[in-house]
Amino acid sequence: MTSPPLAQPTALPPPVMGGVIEGMLRRRTTNGPFRPEAVRREDQHTLMRVAQAAPSHFNSQPWRFVLIENPATIARVAELAGQSMTELIEAGLFFERYRRYFRFSQAELEEKRDGIHIDHLPGPLRPFTRQVFSDAGLKVMRQLGVPRKLGQDNRQLVAGSPLLLAALLDKTEYRPGELSGFYSVFGLGAAIENIWNAVEALGMGIQFVSTPAEIPRHWQEVQRLLVVPDELELMALFRLGYLPEEHSRPTIDWSSRHRKRLEQFVYRESCAVPEAEDAPLRTSGHAQL
Ligand SMILES: Cc1cc2nc3c(=O)[nH]c(=O)nc-3n(C[C@H](O)[C@H](O)[C@H](O)COP(=O)(O)O)c2cc1C
Repeated sequence: MTSPPLAQPTALPPPVMGGVIEGMLRRRTTNGPFRPEAVRREDQHTLMRVAQAAPSHFNSQPWRFVLIENPATIARVAELAGQSMTELIEAGLFFERYRRYFRFSQAELEEKRDGIHIDHLPGPLRPFTRQVFSDAGLKVMRQLGVPRKLGQDNRQLVAGSPLLLAALLDKTEYRPGELSGFYSVFGLGAAIENIWNAVEALGMGIQFVSTPAEIPRHWQEVQRLLVVPDELELMALFRLGYLPEEHSRPTIDWSSRHRKRLEQFVYRESCAVPEAEDAPLRTSGHAQL
């Protein structure tokens, strides 16, 4: 019996996945408001289906999700998010915790190519951009009412979102300190990334709402609101909705579209050799990074 001829390696197949790849390269966080209308149940379920298509350790599917549309719950979460933001900025905690991620100039961005660039500020604040991390800067920010303004903006953004999504982990899988703790967080991250990549196709956007998680008593209240049982750990909250035609930016906003060059995060064969920056992307179009 003769074996069938082996398939000859041909030229690289055309990038049929171009659309998917480009979609992933375009994936972004939505910083602005959503349209007020409810998210269709079928779209909510599509997002849940793509979430559960993610890989998980032994197919454990450790993720759980709560879809939240009740206006009273959304309003209370929005208040907690706004209050948390105001408290964090007011106490200087936000900048203390996260100063290393802030970039203040194009030159700094170009060098590091990570972090966030505060590029949208009300006029009176602009001269103080670089001083926000100093005691004097914090004092000016307090005098100008920045903590309250940022809190209000955050509350409005969350309150105006038709859908919140809580992501939880099954505690039999989520055991911090053990490998299983890492694997379950990895699986949840993959599930959320699938959602994040899928929203665009549904005309939707998504944003993390992480300020309440920074203040334990506020996070506990969110858990009570969602009746989270002992067997589950509340890991993250998101706001979602359909995108408006016109994108308006919040009063204080940042950009984080930039990404590191290949040589800044990829090595070849060992960590001693940074990858050279040369191969072009094989997508069908030109995705902007
Ligand atoms: C664990 C985690 C927490 C985040 N928390 C927030 C948040 O509280 N607010 C927000 O707007 N974005 C949050 N983000 C989104 C990042 O700021 C964002 O992904 C990053 O700046 C890159 O921007 P991009 O998503 O638009 O590409 C979070 C992302 C991760 C992974």
